[in-house]
Amino acid sequence: MTNDPLLQPYQLRHLTLKNRLMITSHEPAYPEDGMPKERYRAYHVERARAGVALTMTAGSASVARDSPPVFNNILAWKDEVVGWMKQLTDECHDHGCAVMIQLTHLGRRTRWDKADWLPVVSAGHAREPSHKAFPKVAEDWDIARIIADYADAAERMKEAGLDGIELQAYGHLMDQFWSPLTNDLDGPYGGSLDNRLRFTFDTLSAIRERCGEDFLVGVRYTGDEDLPGGLTKNDGLEISRRLKDSGLVDFLNVVKGHIDTDAGLTDVIPVQGMRASPHLDFAGEVRAATRFPTFHAAKVQDVATARHAIASGKLDMVGMTRAHMADPHIVAKIMRGEEERIRPCVGANYCLDRIYQGGMALCLHNPATGRELEQPHEVPEAPETRRVVIIGAGPAGLEAARVSAARGHDVIVHEAANDPGGQVRGASDRPDTAPRRDDPAGPMAFRGMHADGRDVPLQQLRGCSDRTGG
Ligand SMILES: Cc1cc2nc3c(=O)[nH]c(=O)nc-3n(C[C@H](O)[C@H](O)[C@H](O)COP(=O)(O)O)c2cc1C
Ligand code: SF4
Repeated sequence: MTNDPLLQPYQLRHLTLKNRLMITSHEPAYPEDGMPKERYRAYHVERARAGVALTMTAGSASVARDSPPVFNNILAWKDEVVGWMKQLTDECHDHGCAVMIQLTHLGRRTRWDKADWLPVVSAGHAREPSHKAFPKVAEDWDIARIIADYADAAERMKEAGLDGIELQAYGHLMDQFWSPLTNDLDGPYGGSLDNRLRFTFDTLSAIRERCGEDFLVGVRYTGDEDLPGGLTKNDGLEISRRLKDSGLVDFLNVVKGHIDTDAGLTDVIPVQGMRASPHLDFAGEVRAATRFPTFHAAKVQDVATARHAIASGKLDMVGMTRAHMADPHIVAKIMRGEEERIRPCVGANYCLDRIYQGGMALCLHNPATGRELEQPHEVPEAPETRRVVIIGAGPAGLEAARVSAARGHDVIVHEAANDPGGQVRGASDRPDTAPRRDDPAGPMAFRGMHADGRDVPLQQLRGCSDRTGG
């Protein structure tokens, strides 16, 4: 028994989530032939085994052939996905972790020369600055076909035994209908807010009809585009209420901002040097306005802030997504009272940059991430111990030293410079090297919640025996 707010179960209709930590949808670009095979499965199972309550798999899994991935996403429009997703889901379920998947049609957020070179469709002709395709405006038969594609993909996921799905609506086709900036349609799908939301509600109705009431369905959406002429916060709150009132969704997963440019994407997924948890209060406002299950993730990198997000009632489930890439064992370490041993995500975004430029997400802080099949996160003891001499205390040398020591070897490290760290030292956030990488103190940056409810600097929580949760 524990009174840690993060470790309390959460009841999402019929599904009991065993704690309040989730991994939000993020495509690490590990699919092979568009399928989540062994490597993909091992990545999620590692985190399920360590105790995360819900993993939202994939990221932008494609529901239709004319939504070709730009960086190797799961092809949810293929029937063969069912078998692969079933294996992943069954193994995560064995560890008590719920599994859902994010489904989407990218609309204009793709390139014209991907996959089958089919025409890129959207609700208007406006070109997306990042991917630069000129979309054709979706015609009635495109809309009807894509709604059916969503329902087909949802049904495949139900067949694979997943607990539910979420639909992506920030920067993708769904909210390209919502936003006045990207919807040029007239008639039933353009013009008033009612009309701009019609594609979403038609899709949700089709999914419900196909998958029934017991399959959980949510929407991950922007609650404020933060763009002149785009969806405002008031629009976002109105959309949140309508999603709830529709009776078609079970949870809201809200983000703030727009992703059509790299700068916009960076505000939605903040990197090092930017404020911590910048949109947490906004997500809390959505929860307060709707009194509906609300999930959120955006640079909640430390356990104290995650705990605050739950204890203060801003969120029902808190996403620590990159944090789980850097350390898959966050929940296990919280439960063991070893928070100080969590390997922190520093927000360098090597992982995200790499899906475009290197073809797969890897973590600057943890070489075993994405390599679970060949590099275990928990290092086994060596059958016989040796003396290991390492020349160079840069990141590779230090990791080799750490792993060798964990295996039980006798390790000596030689370094020519005065201090260890190699090139990372130069790139780190020390004031004399790269001060812009330092986190400015946001509302919760380096702060956490004391057991008595006080908001205090994180240092005061370290080693403090009566902090919330132990
Ligand atoms: C490699 C990578 C891929 C991502 N892909 C998606 C995606 O396809 N769909 C989505 O909604 N979010 C995606 N995200 C965003 C994450 O779900 C999350 O919102 C973001 O990382 C901020 O949360 P964090 O600070 O806890 O990591 C991605 C993030 C990363 C790091
Ligand atoms: S690469 Fe950087 S941002 Fe990405 S998970 Fe690792 S530490 Fe975090």
